[in-house]
Amino acid sequence: MFCPFQLSKDGVEMQFATNHLGHFLLTNLLLDTMKATAKSTGIEGRIVNLSSVAHHHTYPKGIDFDNLNDEKIYNDKMAYGQSKLANLLHAKELSRRLKEEGANITVNSVHPGLIMTNLMRHSLFS
Ligand SMILES: NC(=O)c1ccc[n+]([C@@H]2O[C@H](COP(=O)([O-])OP(=O)(O)OC[C@H]3O[C@@H](n4cnc5c(N)ncnc54)[C@H](OP(=O)(O)O)[C@@H]3O)[C@@H](O)[C@H]2O)c1
Repeated sequence: MFCPFQLSKDGVEMQFATNHLGHFLLTNLLLDTMKATAKSTGIEGRIVNLSSVAHHHTYPKGIDFDNLNDEKIYNDKMAYGQSKLANLLHAKELSRRLKEEGANITVNSVHPGLIMTNLMRHSLFS
């Protein structure tokens, strides 16, 4: 959260890469197994994205897809906000698709409250 501009090894702005793309990929890699397990056991699968109330505080366009990796317009707070908005939209759309498919899996995103963790390393502790 709120780190100085940096790119991941894949060349994506670090907050978007860490907070959204990593979780998006992990979810997709697990999805077939989750669907099969929910079907064979009858037990509902659950995907929970840890988003944040900070999803309200984004760039003016929301997720600025055209300038994701542009250091010139980088704002550490808005970049965090857009990554958290991505968590929320990912949950919403995946939930819709799984419902349409009839898969027994729910998808939700949550704001966990304010907790003093290492997440604050680039704000309170620096
Ligand atoms: N704490 C709050 O008040 C709060 C509020 C709203 C939402 N959230 C959300 O809650 C989630 C968890 O945060 P937390 O408060 O539990 O913070 P945390 O304890 O610092 O956990 C963050 C985790 O992310 C890992 N991480 C950080 N940068 C990474 C990177 N570039 N690549 C891979 N892993 C990386 C950290 O690993 P290392 O420790 O090894 O770096 C750590 O395991 C986040 O999605 C955050 O947005 C937290």
